[in-house]
Amino acid sequence: MAIEPLQPMQTDQGARSTGLSYQGLLDTDTREVPEVLRMQSAREMPVVQVPIERYISQEFYDLEVEKVWKKTWQFACREEEIPESGDHTLYKIADLEILVVRGEDRQIRAFHNTCLHRGRPLKDYAGNSESIRCPFHGWHWNLDGSLREIPCRWDFPHVDREKFHLPEVRSGTWGGFVFVNPDPDCVSLETYLGDLPRHFERWPLEDRYTEVHVAKVLPCNWKVNQEAFMEAYHVIGTHPQMLPGIGDSNSQYDAWDNFSRAITANMTPSPHLTWEPDEQDQLGAMLTPSMDKDPQIRVPEDMTARELMAQMTRMQLQASVPSVQALTDAELVDSFYYTLFPNFHPWGAYNRIVYRFRPWEDDVHKCLMEVIYLSPYRGRRPSAVPIQWLDEDEPWTEAKGLGSLAKVFEQDTFNLRRAQQGLRSAQHTHVTLANYQETKLRHFHSLLERYVGA
Ligand code: FES
Ligand SMILES: [Fe+2]
Repeated sequence: MAIEPLQPMQTDQGARSTGLSYQGLLDTDTREVPEVLRMQSAREMPVVQVPIERYISQEFYDLEVEKVWKKTWQFACREEEIPESGDHTLYKIADLEILVVRGEDRQIRAFHNTCLHRGRPLKDYAGNSESIRCPFHGWHWNLDGSLREIPCRWDFPHVDREKFHLPEVRSGTWGGFVFVNPDPDCVSLETYLGDLPRHFERWPLEDRYTEVHVAKVLPCNWKVNQEAFMEAYHVIGTHPQMLPGIGDSNSQYDAWDNFSRAITANMTPSPHLTWEPDEQDQLGAMLTPSMDKDPQIRVPEDMTARELMAQMTRMQLQASVPSVQALTDAELVDSFYYTLFPNFHPWGAYNRIVYRFRPWEDDVHKCLMEVIYLSPYRGRRPSAVPIQWLDEDEPWTEAKGLGSLAKVFEQDTFNLRRAQQGLRSAQHTHVTLANYQETKLRHFHSLLERYVGA
């Protein structure tokens, strides 16, 4: 399929909100600001317009399967989902099924979940077993993928034990996440991640556990969904109740090789407002995202809402995060949302959120969105919670443990069905992105073009 050539468009690379910059806000922090927050990397990227067919065409979907899902490193599961030898789980992406297994030697390995006899998937669910046995005719492998047994072995003199080792999928770990890459010739996970681990040195995600994991199928392309979580530009339209307490259009956007990030300050007013919210207004807007009740907490006279929020979060994390006193107010209050190409969204600092977006059942118009909260803990690591599946028409507020963000997710996903319908009925050819505030989307599409091969 032909990819539309990029549309050259004049943009003013230096144009920014006239409000307080994020770096300016950091200058007021009560703690020393670490290098990771001071970094700025606004790259020039050619993509400002994206062909609509990328969101609606089955042909482009098929290209993504071949060129992206079969070629990139992807977050498959958390290490704590498979803590014991014999524990296994499945990662499904498009028509691929990958079995992730912890071996007797405690090593994590990944295999294609397809029997080498007549192709039935080896496992249907996550679980624990001391070996890998196909339910169809009972071919049987060890946890390290070596062939153990074939019923009526005499009937398969042509099967060489060595050659019938389960084909392994490249895997690796970082931050407590297990990654897989179906491409046997891929670069190492380390190379692919680049500097991302350095960004998370102050917020070790390996020292967290999965406290909440919610999954929901949504009626839109996976990129329409993902892109709604990559910028703060939508706050004015989608979450207007937050404006007194969010520096939406003052956000900072950065891009590196395979990852990008946005930083949005909380407990600071939006430059969109034509009135000046006081400290209580700023706190109230963020503590009660629905604005349907007044928060019980009052900001003391001698404090700002930012300082109060930082203090409350410090107290909350005191028992589980040893470095909490050295963390800046920013790290306890603001939103740091990273994206590793193609679909992995770990949040920085202590905001707990991780998102993952995937296509659903080979339907270009459907996707799976997952919200994971990774929380610090004291003492022994708690077990990972099972996934809560919401029906397509079930609201996020039905899921347990999402807290006040459930209502925010409702707002976030309210537009997505209609966005997909709008794209399908569009008579124009491209979506048009902001130069700066949609940096993460532009970075994503630049990489997508590179993978798909413009
Ligand atoms: S298909 Fe697996 S044993 Fe026959
Ligand atoms: Fe949002």
